[in-house]
Amino acid sequence: MFNRETYIGRRQQLTQKISNGIILLLGNGDSPMNYADNSYYFRQDSSFLYFFGLDFQNLAGVIDVDSGEVIIFGNDVDIEDVIWMGPQIALREKASQVGVLKTEPFKNLQDRIEKAISSGRKVHFLPPYRAENKLLLSDLLGISVSKLKAYSSVELIKSIISLRSVKEEQEISEIRKACAVGYQMHVTAMKMARAGVWEQTIAGTIEGIANSGGGMVSFPVILSQNGETLHNHDHSKTLQNGRLLLVDAGAELGSHYASDFTRTVPVSGKFTPKQREIYEIVLAANNRGRELTKPGSTYLSVHLAAAEVIASGLKAIGLMKGDVHDAVRNGAHALFMPHGLGHMLGLDVHDMEDLGQIYVGYDDEIRPVDQFGTAYLRMGRKLQPGFVITNEPGIYFIPALIEKWKAEKINTDFINFDRLADYLDFGGIRLEDDILITESGCEIIGDRIPVTPDEIEEVMR
Ligand code: GLY
Ligand code: MN
Repeated sequence: MFNRETYIGRRQQLTQKISNGIILLLGNGDSPMNYADNSYYFRQDSSFLYFFGLDFQNLAGVIDVDSGEVIIFGNDVDIEDVIWMGPQIALREKASQVGVLKTEPFKNLQDRIEKAISSGRKVHFLPPYRAENKLLLSDLLGISVSKLKAYSSVELIKSIISLRSVKEEQEISEIRKACAVGYQMHVTAMKMARAGVWEQTIAGTIEGIANSGGGMVSFPVILSQNGETLHNHDHSKTLQNGRLLLVDAGAELGSHYASDFTRTVPVSGKFTPKQREIYEIVLAANNRGRELTKPGSTYLSVHLAAAEVIASGLKAIGLMKGDVHDAVRNGAHALFMPHGLGHMLGLDVHDMEDLGQIYVGYDDEIRPVDQFGTAYLRMGRKLQPGFVITNEPGIYFIPALIEKWKAEKINTDFINFDRLADYLDFGGIRLEDDILITESGCEIIGDRIPVTPDEIEEVMR
């Protein structure tokens, strides 16, 4: 938790951005795993954390924009809870740590919302993503669950995004710590990777490193020799010489700030010439992306520039053909990189994705592109100092996609389909760094995880 002035200041800034009415921010509760008392690890809602800082279950924050009143709704524990959970700090005291002087029992929230609605006041709320909060909001507001998203407040969404997008120094310092844990996770995975090792052994070990960093993984570990499956959570295979191992993993601290890195290594400890050739193209795309990442540039243009590096590299080795610019304009590179260059990073690994990617990554100037591949770009808009984003180009050989494009004769002017037969068991390569936009350009956050083929081979030795 940051100091109380942080939360008071953030709530004041938010209040100034909203024209009138009341803001309702729901915290999260426990989510049952297989029965009510056996719940998933508790994860607070990130916007609630940002404005109210309290990392406990079953809270709601209300900010009255017109009067300036701020209330936290929640319940104090009773003696039965104390028996199971130990002594707890009173809600009033917790609230005062984040500069909120008024607390009320949770049951009073209904009355407060009903009064606001009946007097014609606007209730600003965010689109809920958890079933429990959808039901709660539906009850509180009298809106059917299926319509909640449509009635959520775009004014509130945009205001929160404008604040959370630009990271404060203290937030950057937390992300830096999360990156340091991520560094340890990845170097450990590199050192453990060798033929005969079970993928799950490495996945479990690096997840443990994230836990011992004080938090947890920032998303379920992606670790597989089948790196061509973009989010591969199947860790059931044993490593074999000649294969590549793709590891996409990051840490989330106790403060909930996240990191997110990807590295790809040869199981044998040494890249084959064929692997190195593709690897160098991905690394060049990553480096080019970073060189172009600076305030005022749009991340859509950086994504397309990285795509051109990939298309021109693949053309140089005979897998693509034709004019590189035209190839990218036609989306031909997306056969090999069917995803975007990156996303915002912060309290969420895909920061603020629950608020709507169209608002987080796009604006009136830069609109989402619906072309296959670039359509998955989560962040396209103009960069500003204080943004934290990922830079994660990749090249993948996805047999089903190659077969489909070949059969449907898609982008045949730009792809040498016959040459791809030799790559169907190649897997995939992705290289991901976390980047802070500075006043003059950008910087990789923390020490760069070994990334050149020589550096990786050295670590693995
Ligand atoms: N690290 C997973 C992703 O960015 O989608
Ligand atoms: Mn990522």
